[in-house]
Amino acid sequence: MKLKNLKLVNFRSYEDIFLDFSPGINIFIGDNGSGKTNILEAIYVLSLTKSNRIAHDLDLIKTGFNKSIITGEVLHDDYVKKYQVSIDKFSKKVYINNFQIKKISEYISNFCITSFLPNDIEIIKGSPSIRRNLLNIQIGEIYNHYLKYLNEYNTLLKMRNEYLKRLNINAFSDMKYLEVINEKMASISSKIYYFRFFYLEEINNLISKIYYKLSGIKELKVEYVNNLGITSYNEEKIKEILLTKWKKNLNKEMLQGMTLTGLHRDDLIFSINNQDARIYASQGQQRLIVIAYKIAELMIFKKIKGEYPVLLLDDVFSEIDIKKRNNIIKFLKSDIQVIITTTDIEDISKDLVDCARVFKIKNGEIKIKGGVKNGRKSTRKL
Ligand SMILES: Nc1ncnc2c1ncn2[C@@H]1O[C@H](COP(=O)(O)OP(=O)(O)OP(=O)(O)O)[C@@H](O)[C@H]1O
Ligand SMILES: [Mg+2]
Repeated sequence: MKLKNLKLVNFRSYEDIFLDFSPGINIFIGDNGSGKTNILEAIYVLSLTKSNRIAHDLDLIKTGFNKSIITGEVLHDDYVKKYQVSIDKFSKKVYINNFQIKKISEYISNFCITSFLPNDIEIIKGSPSIRRNLLNIQIGEIYNHYLKYLNEYNTLLKMRNEYLKRLNINAFSDMKYLEVINEKMASISSKIYYFRFFYLEEINNLISKIYYKLSGIKELKVEYVNNLGITSYNEEKIKEILLTKWKKNLNKEMLQGMTLTGLHRDDLIFSINNQDARIYASQGQQRLIVIAYKIAELMIFKKIKGEYPVLLLDDVFSEIDIKKRNNIIKFLKSDIQVIITTTDIEDISKDLVDCARVFKIKNGEIKIKGGVKNGRKSTRKL
């Protein structure tokens, strides 16, 4: 899929701009604080309805205004769809072709992106919830119903935790209710595990080769660490282990008022040559691991959905040596639409710049290099 254009109204530093993208490489150049990441963030929100860098949607609205609207037209195979996200202090609304989509989970797997953003290094170094979140976004973009299962699981988890707290206060509460929740949770868990195991198998089929091409280092693996102790998918076994563990640990869970076993506690471990990348890999190598992971994601997406998602790269090249930069660029020279930001055009190889549409951001104005002004006030209605 290709993002044809983007219109921002009162989003972050932009009051009203319209941008036309190239279906190939697009590069945004500007000084620190000029508004490059804001553009990528807007595309991220247009796809996933949430920002990658902040928790509160209202911070996305330009200071002094009440409502922010992001609109973009996306070319899928041979048809164009218009996507829109609008945020104000009362609500967030999403639209496809001007029709409001009531369930966010039904909106998300339509316009899809893969991104490499500066804080993505946290995928290696950060807490397990970051890696689970990544996995959920990636699988959810490919399989819409995965997000529905996940929502269902999270609702049940909340109910279960509340009931455990109640049981702790009043041990005479009805155990039957807990058993019903357990059964439902075990069943939905096994559906979610199916997707997670499948996706990670696909990742592991690709990632080592990609990483070798990028870095010259062999053997990158991603291990799915789960507190059930299983290494492959088995529906009945998953249900059985969960129900047994919940029964066995009931007193402990009641005391703590939370569910201690389940997929909400799982994690991924990246290893190079069987050594944990968190401890063993350098900063640059960690970045490259995440890039290899994202390239694998692009390929899996293409294999299953038949088209590439749009790739967002925020200041990706600054900490990577020239040889490896060129290796990354080789992967980008295919049918993928890429939107890159940089403070220094020298960080991006010349042959990539030569075939790119280059946008220069200065004092809130965006100009196409060598072309007409393409930003500031939008005149086109979307
Ligand atoms: N809600 C908002 N309203 C108005 N301006 C905002 C809002 N949020 C952020 N900004 C402005 O956006 C600018 C930051 O933009 P952005 O993060 O896109 O910069 P950048 O070009 O990516 O910089 P760097 O190269 O340092 O990463 C800041 O100057 C900030 O003041
Ligand atoms: Mg930035």
